[in-house]
Amino acid sequence: MEEKKTIFSGIQPSGGLTLGNYIGALRNWALLQNEYHSYYCVVNLHAVTVRQEPAALRRRTRETAALLMACGIDPNVSTLFIQSHVPEHAELTWALSCNTYMGELMRMTQFKDKSARHSDNINAGLFTYPVLMAADILLYMTDLVPIGADQKQHLELTRDIAQRFNGVYGDVFTVPEPLISKTGGRVMSLQEPERKMSKSDPEDTFISLVDDPDTIRRKIKRAVTDSESEIRFDPENKPGVSNLLNIISALTGESTDDICADMAGQGYGTLKTRVADVVIEALAPMQAEYKRLIGDKEYLMKVQSESAEKAAYLAQKTLRKVQKKIGFAARL
Ligand code: TYM
Repeated sequence: MEEKKTIFSGIQPSGGLTLGNYIGALRNWALLQNEYHSYYCVVNLHAVTVRQEPAALRRRTRETAALLMACGIDPNVSTLFIQSHVPEHAELTWALSCNTYMGELMRMTQFKDKSARHSDNINAGLFTYPVLMAADILLYMTDLVPIGADQKQHLELTRDIAQRFNGVYGDVFTVPEPLISKTGGRVMSLQEPERKMSKSDPEDTFISLVDDPDTIRRKIKRAVTDSESEIRFDPENKPGVSNLLNIISALTGESTDDICADMAGQGYGTLKTRVADVVIEALAPMQAEYKRLIGDKEYLMKVQSESAEKAAYLAQKTLRKVQKKIGFAARL
């Protein structure tokens, strides 16, 4: 029998999670967990590359872990842990940083975007962020990384770093592959459908995973479409309508062609009602479970601590191997 492969993915606890996170990543994580050894990480070290309020960061870290569980990630099946609980992530980052070129990091579009948005705080961590992401992935000998399309460039860099390191020091790391879903790999902003839906944009542009049905309806009703009236899938010329069609398709499994055929002759108002219905229905069970879990702080803490221990076991093993290969002195 073939050995189970390993998947790893991470999510930042910065702000509420969005429908984009759900469709692009979280729901796939839950689907994949039985098929693979799965490591899912709330990446609070990444979050502090932009200024965070400490109490809010602590709260959101717990909320994010609870949301992941509410999305179906079962801590008895997957290892669901907090990045700062496994210090090997930061330690491997150093070794990888010494094998990553400035030029490579300067080409990262997320760095360019974020430094434009936070021009008062272009810190070194923001610059080396992709190296920390590479360390996350490589510590667990990951085969596959389920992500949204926006993280593809970071994954390509991870592969380059792993291959370079293996070339110099011998086979240490597994070289990971990205896993990006065809529908839903990029959910767009409701107000500016040429941009991806992002939690760091204004409220009206995204659906939060904890929005109530009225809020979801209101936001979708206000979503930008176009001046035509035909429901047609054409991301280039009709980005708003196409984004709405994509959301339905990703959540129901129907193809965009079938949805268009089904809705032929109807107006954008009907399309929006359909989107809202589908989103509300998809999120309802998750929201109910989240409400239950978030009150159970003791259970959440127990999961975090047990999972950190499981993750640390493999992380320490990999790090020791790396240290030995590099030539760091052994200690008794
Ligand atoms: P983050 O926290 O921004 O997003 C978490 C996941 O959600 C996906 N995503 C989207 N997918 C589709 N449409 C959208 N609008 C959308 N917005 C977000 C992201 O692609 C991601 O998969 N650097 C990463 C976190 C990270 C990581 C890792 C991921 C740190 N270490 C190791 C994978 C492996 C990030 O900021 O994701």
